Amino acid sequence: MDTIVSGMRPTGRLHLGHLHGALKNWLRLQENYRCYFFVADWHALTTDYASPQGIKPSTSEMVMDWLSVGLDPHRSTIFRQSQVKEHAELHLFFSMITPVPWLERNPTYKDQLKELVEKDLSTYGFLGYPVLQAADITIYKANKVPVGVDQAPHVELTREIVRRFNQIYRPIFPEPEVLLTEAQKVPGLDGRKMSKSYNNAVFLSDTPQEIDQKLSRMMTDPARVRRTDPGEPEKCPAFQLHKIYCTPEEIAEVSTGCRTAGIGCLDCKKVMIKHVIEDLAPFREQRARYEKDPEQVEAVLTTGNAIAHEKAAETMVEVREAVGL
Ligand code: TRP
Ligand code: SF4
Repeated sequence: MDTIVSGMRPTGRLHLGHLHGALKNWLRLQENYRCYFFVADWHALTTDYASPQGIKPSTSEMVMDWLSVGLDPHRSTIFRQSQVKEHAELHLFFSMITPVPWLERNPTYKDQLKELVEKDLSTYGFLGYPVLQAADITIYKANKVPVGVDQAPHVELTREIVRRFNQIYRPIFPEPEVLLTEAQKVPGLDGRKMSKSYNNAVFLSDTPQEIDQKLSRMMTDPARVRRTDPGEPEKCPAFQLHKIYCTPEEIAEVSTGCRTAGIGCLDCKKVMIKHVIEDLAPFREQRARYEKDPEQVEAVLTTGNAIAHEKAAETMVEVREAVGL
């Protein structure tokens, strides 16, 4: 059976973008693979080292969402990176053999340096972000890594590091492959990418009222200024959600309605909002149970940490032996 490893930085409550981007994919994968899913809390520290207070609470919120959506701790190993110290040791071994120019060339690194100007990211740890990620992946001897396109360069770097390690010492790691996540595009309320920091997200844990309020004022085709102006669904961010949630008949009907100005935007959105609320109902029920008993989430992590640790420790015996220490 192939092994899958994937992680998420702890961002707190998850939104529809996470659900359709990564989580639905994880749910499918856990049926057919040995899966390790973890909270990349050390990775969060690379950008938030100066204000780390949010990391721990965000971890609990995020794992609560994972479990409520159906990640199953009996199938998948769910754990916290910082609780499996072997990741740090393997990261150190990898850092010895990784040429700095490989890291400086990394497109994500260059983008983030430009984007996060308010933070001082001229640190050793931030440059080494993909080296730690390589350790996360290889310590479980993963064959496949499900990530979005933005993370593909990191998995590519992992392969290069693995090749170099296997060549210099002894071949102990498989070269992991990217399993590109076919992410369904979920625009945020303002039409930009859905993101907590843009304040345009619908959270999985929002109440039906909140979902209704948020989606009712979601951006539509800007050409429809008046009710009598015809619109074009493909230019409407809200319609992206229709495409995910509505039946083919409903989609056809609102499309025609939009193009002929036969339907108003609010009525059009109502058709979709109903589905979003219904679709999240089982999630809300499950989450309410965990909220009453947060210890359960901690217990899942404690068990997962132990299982991950066992495998990671096994790999490290081999690594130390291969390097000759
Ligand atoms: N860098 C990933 C992200 O930002 C998170 C991550 C850390 C990860 N380690 C990983 C993803 C290992 C896959 C495998 O989304
Ligand atoms: Fe979007 Fe529907 Fe309004 Fe058309 S009618 S712009 S698809 S919300």
